[in-house]
Amino acid sequence: MEKEDMKFQEIFSQYNGEREELIPILQDTQAIYGYLPEQAMRAIARFMRIPQSQVYGVATFFGQFYFSRRGKHAIKVCLGTACHVKGAGRLMEAFEREMGIGCGCITDDYSFSLERVNCVGACAIAPVVMVGEDVYGHVESKRVKEVLDIYAKDS
Ligand code: FES
Repeated sequence: MEKEDMKFQEIFSQYNGEREELIPILQDTQAIYGYLPEQAMRAIARFMRIPQSQVYGVATFFGQFYFSRRGKHAIKVCLGTACHVKGAGRLMEAFEREMGIGCGCITDDYSFSLERVNCVGACAIAPVVMVGEDVYGHVESKRVKEVLDIYAKDS
């Protein structure tokens, strides 16, 4: 059993399977895997004694959950209106070029993934890029490599 799977099994010892525990369980699961793998969703449904469709129903309702593997460092380029006006489209292209992957993809070594988001609530510092929970404002295309290099050391 993988280390992650063992940690995942330990989650269940902290809960009783009550309905209100579903979201914390999903959050704990995502903290381990970085997303919600299908086999984990099955195990959660069994533990909670509810249909798997109900677990997915709750998880998809909230924007915080992911259903496919992401990079260790998830790059999110905001393409909301304020960021778009400030050149976020060109910024996304610069990330795609520098990372060698398209939006919605993950690097071969799983170090980075690239995705678009719509307004992260920081329009005053548009265009905005998030790397995990870190927020970068006024990002110009020429800073893309500099931002990536910060996290490349930790890959
Ligand atoms: S549109 Fe990008 S932060 Fe609001």
